Amino acid sequence: MTDVELTWCCAPQEVSPALREQVLTCWVEVSNAGGAVGFPDLPVAAADVAPALTALVAGLAPRRAGLLTAHVDGDLAGWLSLTRPERRIAGHWGSVTRVQTAPAARGTGVGARLMAEVARCGREDWELDHLVLTVRGGTGTEAFYERFGWREYGRHPRALRLAADDLREEVQLWLPLSA
Ligand SMILES: CC(C)(COP(=O)(O)OP(=O)(O)OC[C@H]1O[C@@H](n2cnc3c(N)ncnc32)[C@H](O)[C@@H]1OP(=O)(O)O)[C@@H](O)C(=O)NCCC(=O)NCCS
Repeated sequence: MTDVELTWCCAPQEVSPALREQVLTCWVEVSNAGGAVGFPDLPVAAADVAPALTALVAGLAPRRAGLLTAHVDGDLAGWLSLTRPERRIAGHWGSVTRVQTAPAARGTGVGARLMAEVARCGREDWELDHLVLTVRGGTGTEAFYERFGWREYGRHPRALRLAADDLREEVQLWLPLSA
């Protein structure tokens, strides 16, 4: 089993310039390898992804928006984002986005560690009732999440227009956290 170091950043100042650079590099690499992480028009360069990372870091707040990173031997092996809605009546659930592992780290259990930790944090630290995430249809990635107890609750037909003649559904998954 790979020795994985998991870290939460829940404030902008907790993201060092070095960590920011690692996350940016990972996001670019994963996007260009075809990962469904927000940038469908490929290839992307660091300058294309940087504004989204700047917004993500600026929004970090305790029990509101967190960045979870996984390091192996000092290298960033993967990361994800957890946020909860600001609306009071929807503040009991969290949304998981940007789930990704660096191409070089794939298949070594890093994704599994990220999913276990986001569920633990949601349940124990943020005291959430459930988590949600969406998957681009046609990628088969929902099978990855289902391994960790996530369940499909809907499909939004033709939700994503990757190209004029390429409309994809979006698969909606949730993970109950209460006993
Ligand atoms: C999906 C992803 C996060 C998986 O990460 P990973 O680090 O390779 O996953 P792990 O090594 O922890 O795999 C855990 C288990 O899930 C399985 N698995 C991995 N990817 C899978 C997939 N796409 N579908 C089904 N099972 C998958 C592994 O075989 C492993 O099974 P095992 O425990 O029986 O050996 C990674 O492939 C990725 O970053 N993809 C590109 C980005 C992306 O599309 N993210 C999803 C956004 S919704």
